[in-house]
Amino acid sequence: MDKQLEPNMHDEVQRYYGETLESSDDLKTTACCTATAPSDYIRKLLGDIHEEVSRRYYGCGLVLPEALEGLRILDLGCGAGQDVYLLSRLVGPHGHVTGVDMTPAQLRVANDHLDFHMERYGYSEPNVDFIEANIEELDLIGLPDASFDLIVSNCVVNLAVDKGAVLRSAQRLLKPGGEMYFSDIYADRRVPEELTTDPVLYGECLAGAMYWNDFLDMAREVGFAVPRLLTNSPVDVTDPELQQCVGELRFYSATYRLFSFSGAETGSENYGQMAIYQGSIPQHPDQIRLDKHFIFKAGEPTPICGNTSRLLKASRFAPFFHIIGDDSVHLGAFGIKEDQFPFTEDASEGEGGRCC
Ligand SMILES: C[S@@+](CC[C@H](N)C(=O)[O-])C[C@H]1O[C@@H](n2cnc3c(N)ncnc32)[C@H](O)[C@@H]1O
Repeated sequence: MDKQLEPNMHDEVQRYYGETLESSDDLKTTACCTATAPSDYIRKLLGDIHEEVSRRYYGCGLVLPEALEGLRILDLGCGAGQDVYLLSRLVGPHGHVTGVDMTPAQLRVANDHLDFHMERYGYSEPNVDFIEANIEELDLIGLPDASFDLIVSNCVVNLAVDKGAVLRSAQRLLKPGGEMYFSDIYADRRVPEELTTDPVLYGECLAGAMYWNDFLDMAREVGFAVPRLLTNSPVDVTDPELQQCVGELRFYSATYRLFSFSGAETGSENYGQMAIYQGSIPQHPDQIRLDKHFIFKAGEPTPICGNTSRLLKASRFAPFFHIIGDDSVHLGAFGIKEDQFPFTEDASEGEGGRCC
C-alpha cells in the first residue's frame, strides 16, 4: 500500500479505545477478556474498583504477581486504570504505581476516579499517577534508568507498532533483579502483511500480535535472557466476519515473566540445586508458581536449574526462599525448555474468567 494511504495505527488504536469501544461488551473477540479466574482475595479487591473503571477494562490476563508490598511499578498501556488501582492497593501506601497510556479518553476515566480509590483505600497521599505518552517513546518522558521494581502490561504490547522499543525501554527502566510481568496476545504464525493494517483486527489485539517465536527472539535480544511462560489460553474470534479474515491463524493470550538478571545460561542446566519456599509471601501461604514448570510448595525442597537459582537470588523473591547448593558441579541438562510455548490449554484456565 502507498505509504501516504496507510492507516496510522496509533490514530486507529486511539480511536478504537477512545471512541469506538464504550465497554468490553463491544468487543468482537475474547482477546481483551481475562480467562484466568481471580482468587477470592483479588475478587474482593475488584469489588472496590469504581464501576466506570471496571467497565473500560480491556485486559487479557491478571497482572498481579506475588510479593508487591512497597514496590515501584510501571503499567504500560494502563487504559482506564483498573490494574493501576488494584496494584495501588497491593503495593500499599509506601509503594507507587505509574500508569502510561496514549489515549486521553482512557486516562480521563482513570484520573476522574483517583480520589475515589485513594479514599476507599484510606491513603492520605495518592500512590499512583498517570502519564499520557506513547510507550514506544518512553525515553522522552524522563523516567530514570533502573527506577522500577516491576513493569506490568495487560493486552497492550501487541498494539505497539515498535514492540522492540517497548521491551528495550522496559529493560532500561527495571532495577537489577526487576521483572516485566505481562499478559498479551500471540499468534501461532506471522500475521500476513495484508491483515496488519485492518483497524478492527488491529484494535481487537489480533493484527499486531507477534508470532510467539519472534517474541521470544526479541525478548532475548534486548536482554531478557530467559522468558518464562506462566499461563496461556486460546482466543475465540467470535465475530463471523473477523473469523473469515483470520482463516487458519490461531491466537492465544499468554502471561510471560521477563526477569532482568545477569549470568543467565542459554540452556537449562542441572547443578543439583533445590529451592524451599518459606510460605511467607502474604496471600500465598501454601505455594507460589514461578512459571509453567516451577511450582514451589511451602516447606518442600523443589529441584531447580541454574537459571532459576540465579533468578530467585537476584529478584524480590530472594527473602522468601532458601536455596540449597551452588553451581560448582555441573550434572548435565536440567531437562526443561524454560521458555516453552506449548499452547496447549491450561487446565487451570478457561473457567471463571471475566470480560470486564
Ligand atoms: C486493550 S487496551 C488495555 C488497557 C488496559 N491495560 C486494561 O487492561 O484495561 C489497550 C490500551 O493500550 C493503549 N495503547 C496502545 N498502544 C499504545 C502505545 N503505543 N502507547 C501508549 N498506549 C498505548 C490504548 O490506548 C489502550 O488504552
